[in-house]
Amino acid sequence: MKKLWGGRFTGSAEDWVDEFGASIGFDQELAEQDIEGSIAHAMMLAQSDIISDREADEIIQGLKKLKEKAKNNDLEYSAKLEDIHLNLEHHLTELIGPTGGKLHTARSRNDQVATDMHLYLRAQVEEIIELINEFQKTIIEQAEQNIETIMPGYTHLQRAQPISFAHHLMAYFWMLDRDKQRYSDSFKRINLSPLGAGALAGTTFPIDRYFTAQKLGFEGIYENSLDAVSDRDFILEFLSGSSILMMHLSRLCEEIILWSSQEFQFIELSDAFTTGSSIMPQKKNPDMAELIRGKAGRVYGSLIGLLTVLKGLPLAYNKDMQEDKEGMFDTVKTIKGSLKIFSGMIKTMKVKKETMESSVKNDFSNATELADYLATKGIPFREAHEIVGKLVLECIQKQCYLADLPLEAYKEMNPLFEDDIYEALNPYNAVGRRTSAGGTGFSQVKAQIGKAKELL
Ligand code: ARG
Repeated sequence: MKKLWGGRFTGSAEDWVDEFGASIGFDQELAEQDIEGSIAHAMMLAQSDIISDREADEIIQGLKKLKEKAKNNDLEYSAKLEDIHLNLEHHLTELIGPTGGKLHTARSRNDQVATDMHLYLRAQVEEIIELINEFQKTIIEQAEQNIETIMPGYTHLQRAQPISFAHHLMAYFWMLDRDKQRYSDSFKRINLSPLGAGALAGTTFPIDRYFTAQKLGFEGIYENSLDAVSDRDFILEFLSGSSILMMHLSRLCEEIILWSSQEFQFIELSDAFTTGSSIMPQKKNPDMAELIRGKAGRVYGSLIGLLTVLKGLPLAYNKDMQEDKEGMFDTVKTIKGSLKIFSGMIKTMKVKKETMESSVKNDFSNATELADYLATKGIPFREAHEIVGKLVLECIQKQCYLADLPLEAYKEMNPLFEDDIYEALNPYNAVGRRTSAGGTGFSQVKAQIGKAKELL
């Protein structure tokens, strides 16, 4: 097969060398974007009288046919032709003859590939934002069912203070909301056109970069042709936003895994998102949560991989940059898959309210209530803390909980204790009273859910 850049060569590489250098194995994912970019470019060439209207028409009709074929997986690609750009140009010329060779006037694969990736990521980020929305809706639905479900809140994975399960779920709603904001914000920078930068220096042809930018729906153009073909910071931004999202998801994974363990028994995942063991018949493993937790690794890997590829690269394009694609494609797939699984998993999980509530009763996570109680009566909080600490110790020695101690035991420790302490110790009241802004008090949780709904 004739190389499209073969003019100055007398020898040729062996097949296995061509294969090593080729990106067609993965960049065929960009076929549609490549054709879209080419159509805009051909229109512009005619508009600027660089090619004739008839030629542009032939090219565009040919490209449209290729688009159909690409959609139906009906195009043959060859590693001999290196990448998607040269493969498509080859097909176009096969289809319409030598006029096909005019398409590449005033263009380089360097601005072409950058354009393709901007178009690709723009569409993917839009889809990802939509999937985050879906997941957030699911979280709200579960939260609404569990406003008054009390569970232990933890610090250091030690029971700390009772909280509403809805409050815990909603914490993830807000993390996802910031993830979404990061994607939306990066959109401004994704939505710029590198097309027309040429190989690096622009072109002598009277092209109109604003025309192609507008045709492709870009908000503006890269102002510097070297910058346009050299940087991949828009992909880095996508990968770093995605890494943060995966970090968030992996924490929820971890909690889901803990909660569905025999030790916690706070939730039960639906059969649809769990698997059995080939040897232990009793097992129901939270595989999907584990897998997503694990997949955070490959997304971080793609981010670090691309940062490392770009580090120290001289301007402008270098072949190293062909390594920008697989991590991006893989991350898109990972993020979309993880978000879809999560929506289903959270929607269908069974919340075991009784276990959650009984674990709050059989522990000391209401100790802060007593310290607050004394502090309200004028005892400095530090002192109150000390007194309650002693009461906890007494309970541990007597093998009981705070609500089991008789009033006399309290009075002995401090005369300010009255019999309303038992109400204060009730975990339901403990949660309900935490009405500071953003707190776990039921009224605050409801207000929070209200705000969340408004946002969606
Ligand atoms: N396949 C190449 C890549 O993905 C396209 C750009 C090639 N440009 C070049 N000057 N060799 O990076």
